[in-house]
Amino acid sequence: MELSALAIRVARTPGLGMLPQVTSQVLKLVDNPNASPRQIGALIERDAGLASKLLKTANSAYYGTPGKIKTVSQAISVMGLSAVRSVVVGQAYQQMTAVRGASKRFDRLAFWQHSLATATAARVLAKLKGWRDPEEAFLTGLLHDAGRLVMDRFLSNEFDQILTLALERVAPLIEVEREVLGYTHVEVCDLLAAEWNLPETMREPLRRHHDDVRFDECPLGCIVHAANVLAHQAGFALGAPVLYEMPPQVRQSLGIPDAQYEGLKQAIVHEVVKVQEALRI
Ligand SMILES: [Fe+2]
Ligand SMILES: [Fe+2]
Repeated sequence: MELSALAIRVARTPGLGMLPQVTSQVLKLVDNPNASPRQIGALIERDAGLASKLLKTANSAYYGTPGKIKTVSQAISVMGLSAVRSVVVGQAYQQMTAVRGASKRFDRLAFWQHSLATATAARVLAKLKGWRDPEEAFLTGLLHDAGRLVMDRFLSNEFDQILTLALERVAPLIEVEREVLGYTHVEVCDLLAAEWNLPETMREPLRRHHDDVRFDECPLGCIVHAANVLAHQAGFALGAPVLYEMPPQVRQSLGIPDAQYEGLKQAIVHEVVKVQEALRI
């Protein structure tokens, strides 16, 4: 299927291409510096599912406040706006991953863990680099391979072929995607990001997460690239067992000592369990 035809299918599928109205309004408000937590809280309360998810998250062990948070506005103040955004998008993402695609060879559990591992690594790297918004890094890491969920759903035959070829050749999935489809999960993810109205501060890094990009050029792109490599190295791999290495510019511009990466990989494994608990509500 051509990319343009795929774009039309994504846009026409409720729940995949389109976020629920409240969710997209919340995302717009969270990105508006003039919006007050009270306004955002009032909006979230209109969506009972979203409100209860937020309360459960704020009351989870992850935030260290079990059972103490009773209202949405309390939840927002405990979690911070940017974590609220993670829950909002996380919920939409979960709804999307809950729909089974048709691909026979796609390992959905491995995909979910890979996404979480990358998200977690991105948040840790963002904190190490003093990046302004570690939650945005988490979210970008979580969504970085979302294009593959779309492929699972709408391009299942081609995706099966891609997964088989990648295993046979022990080649990275992205190379085989380009060969079979003429485009990759990166372009497919951008279709989704556009439909979801994600801010350009996330879309650019999503588009560049496989490029050899320097931190000063595109900080989140560089962070998510490194996080993806670390997730693979920590055992949360996707596709064939290819040895993933950090490209020179990514490694040099991050400037994190090699020894620290080893500890970081252990932290990823640890955090995946914790974050999975916080998100699986
Ligand atoms: Fe990717
Ligand atoms: Fe990835």
